[in-house]
Amino acid sequence: DNAIKKSMPLFGKKVMVTAGPTYEAIDPVRFIGNHSSGKMGFAIADELASLGAEVTLIAGPTAQQSNQTLKRINVVSALDMLNACNALFNETDITVMCAAVADYKPKTVANQKIKKQDGDFNLELEKTTDILASLGKSKKPNQILVGFALETNDEENYAKGKLEKKNLDLVVLNSLNDAGAGFKSDTNKITIFNKALEKTVFELKSKTEVAKDICEAILKII
Ligand code: CTP
Ligand code: CA
Repeated sequence: DNAIKKSMPLFGKKVMVTAGPTYEAIDPVRFIGNHSSGKMGFAIADELASLGAEVTLIAGPTAQQSNQTLKRINVVSALDMLNACNALFNETDITVMCAAVADYKPKTVANQKIKKQDGDFNLELEKTTDILASLGKSKKPNQILVGFALETNDEENYAKGKLEKKNLDLVVLNSLNDAGAGFKSDTNKITIFNKALEKTVFELKSKTEVAKDICEAILKII
């Protein structure tokens, strides 16, 4: 049994995967969120675990369940996710940042439920920390960092820009223009760019199959 484990391609590798949305509180009963289902990140975490890696899955609010036995840390906000990632990153060999992290959060969180008024209501937002970019800054040469880019237009240029700006080893472009791709769907259509900006275009397939393609691209750089 041990011999089988040791022969697995990611045996001994510590891996961190983030998945799902983040929720940014407005008051005790309301939040800003997004439509991420967590399916893609969970499929990647499962696939990495089946390749023998020691996986920690950092999950935003989602009903998703993992199939493999892996360590799961549940978080709610972008700040929670940042703290969980920072606590693990130093000893992590491979990080896949699949979560749909909120870019902005309410500047203040009301302690009591906000009551409606006669007029309109303005919510002031401030930027969250870009977790992936901050990990990219402290990344050591032996660490592999994989990010996603969710785009609707000028997709390839934006994706390559994120790869370079955030110091990534791979960027997975998720184009919302492709039918059958995206948030709630069980399928996805991706394009991967590596550091050399080499492009691989994949067919529309199930998120489980997409996870295998992403893991294969990771194995190629190890
Ligand atoms: N990301 C992150 N922390 C944030 C925002 C995004 O770690 N606060 C990560 C996502 O998990 C993803 C990558 O950055 O891996 C790209 O996310 P995306 O929303 O496509 O890009 P942004 O850099 O946030 O830019 P924009 O939303 O303006 O396109
Ligand atoms: Ca964003």
